[in-house]
Amino acid sequence: MKFLLVAGARPNFMKVAPIWWASRRRKAPDVEVRLVHTGQHYDAEMSEEFFRDLGLPEPDVNLGVGSASHAVQTARVMVAFEEVCIRERPDWTVVVGDVNSTLACAITAKKLGIRVAHVEAGLRSGDLSMPEEINRICTDAIADLLFTTDRIASQNLLREGVPAERIHLVGNTMIDSLVTHLERARQLPLPEGLVAGGFALLTLHRPSNVDDAGVLARILEAVGAVADHLPVVFPVHPRTAPNLPRQVHPNLVLAPPLGYLRFLSLLVRARLVMTDSGGIQEETTFLGIPCLTLRPNTERPITCELGTNVVVGNDPVRIRSAALEILQNGMRRGMVPEYWDGHAAERIVKILLDGHSISC
Ligand code: UD1
Repeated sequence: MKFLLVAGARPNFMKVAPIWWASRRRKAPDVEVRLVHTGQHYDAEMSEEFFRDLGLPEPDVNLGVGSASHAVQTARVMVAFEEVCIRERPDWTVVVGDVNSTLACAITAKKLGIRVAHVEAGLRSGDLSMPEEINRICTDAIADLLFTTDRIASQNLLREGVPAERIHLVGNTMIDSLVTHLERARQLPLPEGLVAGGFALLTLHRPSNVDDAGVLARILEAVGAVADHLPVVFPVHPRTAPNLPRQVHPNLVLAPPLGYLRFLSLLVRARLVMTDSGGIQEETTFLGIPCLTLRPNTERPITCELGTNVVVGNDPVRIRSAALEILQNGMRRGMVPEYWDGHAAERIVKILLDGHSISC
């Protein structure tokens, strides 16, 4: 049994690492796993540092595609990944998440008759202006096995007509990584001037929030209301950097993109998180930290239903009032979704290698 495990962009690495480790722990001589990095993200802080923090080896293959328009980036991954598939002839291609690399590798493998497993299947925002939503829908439509993180995702797939025997509610491999590395992250010292529970954390990289400098400036102005009360740490994504205003609130602490452990060490001790990321909504739910999602919708509604996430969009008035409300009155602790227990990757590997044993 040979499978290709694909990662391309920053949010993929922490989802792939537990699967790689779980397959290694099986110590089955007839199981071969090849780690493929598409190179969609390539900066040291966006990629290498994550491999190091997560204990992942150098990828067996790096397609080195780099940045480009959606069509060009997706096409480059497809052309390069086709060669790898033809050379390696795997039994399975395992893709995670919703980035362009996910879709590109799923289509390429499927057209060569190679079975495709999608980890984190079934998430839906209902918003087709998000490129990730298109990637999710198309990947799920052709996947042979669909591993979901929560019951809402399984229900979405059933509603779309995916046969129940292909859907497996296994939990969340990103939370597997979080569970594994939490203690190490807690041990890291905080940057000077920050104390646990005494700062907020901000991340922004969605095109709808950062590609227009005016929109970004208005969001940062609203965040200034939080910065009036406590430092707001803002690790800046490369997509966001060129559009930052010249002057920002003096209590807004700008930082370069942070590696996995360094970011986690801040996340776990933040009083409030403001983000447009998908994964951070889940990490804060697991940690019980208040999270404001600066997007009009979420593909992860379980984090609002059970967890500590509130979707506020990017309207400055709403951001300001929701954030100040949390600073004044706190927020309920919330609940952790079923199967977010650090063992999702073991379930996935068991199903891939031993056949189907769990279902939606
Ligand atoms: C991608 C994913 C998004 C994910 C995000 C996490 C898609 C469609 N989007 O968005 O879902 O949430 O990653 O970061 O796949 N750049 C660098 N160095 C890098 C990578 C990118 O400087 O290592 C810059 C380039 O200018 C590039 C831009 O960032 O054009 C955007 O990168 P890209 O991979 O196209 O999309 P992200 O915005 O990172």
